[in-house]
Amino acid sequence: MTAQIIDGKLRAAALTTRVTVEVAALKRDHGLTPGLAVVLVGDDPASQIYVRSKGEQSRAAGMHSVTHRLPAATTQADLIALVRQLNADPAIHGVLVQLPLPKHIDDKQVIAAIDPAKDVDGLTIANAGRLASGLPALTPCTPLGCMILLRDTLGDLTGKRALVIGRSVLVGRPIAQLLLQADCTVTVAHSKTRDLPDVCGEAEILVAAIGRPRFVQGAWIRPGAAVIDVGVNRVPFDDPAAAAAGKTKVVGDVAFKAASKVAGWITPVPGGVGLMTVACLLQNTVAAAKAIAGLS
Ligand code: GUN
Repeated sequence: MTAQIIDGKLRAAALTTRVTVEVAALKRDHGLTPGLAVVLVGDDPASQIYVRSKGEQSRAAGMHSVTHRLPAATTQADLIALVRQLNADPAIHGVLVQLPLPKHIDDKQVIAAIDPAKDVDGLTIANAGRLASGLPALTPCTPLGCMILLRDTLGDLTGKRALVIGRSVLVGRPIAQLLLQADCTVTVAHSKTRDLPDVCGEAEILVAAIGRPRFVQGAWIRPGAAVIDVGVNRVPFDDPAAAAAGKTKVVGDVAFKAASKVAGWITPVPGGVGLMTVACLLQNTVAAAKAIAGLS
């Protein structure tokens, strides 16, 4: 069997187009321009790429977009002061503080300072609690993107056995909640899980969000399963000469080649979930703008 590739690029482009049309309508009909503020502290290379993409894509969708780039030595107090300033800015409807933050800053305290109404990352306790309670909430973007891909691929998810590997606040936990809301039977595995290959073998839906390159083996996967690979891991090139020259590439948490011989559907890395994340961020920013303006 050869898995069908789930095309995140195509799906993200469709979603971005829909958001762009909605932004134009909000401007025309209500004089409302959704505004997104992204805050980056320090010079983590991956974060710089993500933040640039968030700025470019929100502008391309017609939004008001500001990016604050702060030095790595920024104090927690100064960062929280900026978040509060953005909370109070009527032109801003979404506030995103890019993670990870430098070690001297407590990310929980920074996230807690974000106005839940502008929390387009869905990371505040208010939004995470609403999601866990089954209430409408601003929901983390990567999990939202995964759910769109799964619904497009499988249709109704009712009763499906879903396995999430990873329990992070950013991905594992919220996607488990979304799968539960979709009436899946949800298992969350993590670094202490025993007999992971056997647990994987049960899963009709497998979401890998571990952060370890090619960790999930092809032989673990249930034949015909839908595999969503959230991993973004930088590894040396397979070719030894290129690796010796310091060339790197991005791979997922799933051993793609072997997995695609067993799975029914699989997301590639790159070109899968990653592209959906920014599209969902734009969608969340529009939703936040409408809610703040009383339009939803
Ligand atoms: N770092 C990696 N992914 C994300 C994300 O979705 N949001 C934030 N704030 N930081 C991230």
